[in-house]
Amino acid sequence: MQVWKTINTAREAIHVGGADLRPLGLVPTMGALHEGHLALVREARSRCAAVIVSVFVNPTQFSPGEDFSRYPRPFDRDCELLENESVCAVFAPDPGEMYDGDATTTVQVSGLTDHLCGPFRPGHFNGVATIVTKLFNVLSPDAAFFGEKDFQQLQVVRRVVRDLNLPVDIVPCPTVRDADGVALSSRNAYLTPPQRVQARSLSAALFSAKNRIACGVSDVSVLIADMRRQILAAGPAQIEYLEIVDPDTLKPVVRADRPVRIALAVRIGACRLIDNVPAP
Ligand code: PAJ
Repeated sequence: MQVWKTINTAREAIHVGGADLRPLGLVPTMGALHEGHLALVREARSRCAAVIVSVFVNPTQFSPGEDFSRYPRPFDRDCELLENESVCAVFAPDPGEMYDGDATTTVQVSGLTDHLCGPFRPGHFNGVATIVTKLFNVLSPDAAFFGEKDFQQLQVVRRVVRDLNLPVDIVPCPTVRDADGVALSSRNAYLTPPQRVQARSLSAALFSAKNRIACGVSDVSVLIADMRRQILAAGPAQIEYLEIVDPDTLKPVVRADRPVRIALAVRIGACRLIDNVPAP
């Protein structure tokens, strides 16, 4: 497995690899890899001749006061995990390699970012849209793999690809959960053991709302009130949002009488957790 630190090295290697690397799959990550990331890598391996994983903690998607500097960076362990998955190369540039100090061009997606995480993380999705576009330009993948765990991010990336005519197939991959239902996340490392137990209430609330929708309950205000009760009963938590939205526009719906996405962001201690499920 190669490790590419610069754009030139990556471009040169992909050029030399030529048709042998096609179709080429990309799995963009910020490292601190877990089974959720590895599921994306395996999906990419099953569909592509070669897979590149990018490991880059992207400064432009963190707001001031967020966890950019303390985000976990176990790079050697990440490389070991990827080596075992027969990844062709890891692209791991330094921030200065990806961003000139005076860069002023960004990719901005409007509408989709007005809801869910958007208002709570101003600038976040511009940072994501910009880095993903740059990674596509540098690495020229045929397909790129994104987790439904970050459903709004997935929809934002799909919109960028559609609106900018980028020649990349976006492949969504289902959320990987621990046996107790908690969605895997690099940020779960911030939870204390009791908080980790408390975190079960998030997926439990999502799945009970999903079941109730499947049983014909469609009044969104009732469903949300019950989810809120269930989460707050498990311990102190700060609910940023609990929403039931149209999966394409991400706009809140009043009745869950057609396919919807149930999504939440909740702070438990120092940790901001997000999760979502489709319903019915
Ligand atoms: P990161 O949080 O490292 O996630 C990388 C990819 O793994 C994303 O597509 C995310 O949705 C997926 N993923 C994370 N946890 C998952 C889980 N439990 N099940 C399935 N997939 C999961 O998302 C980012 O990095 C960044 O925003 C990035 C796209 C790399 C741009 O910087």
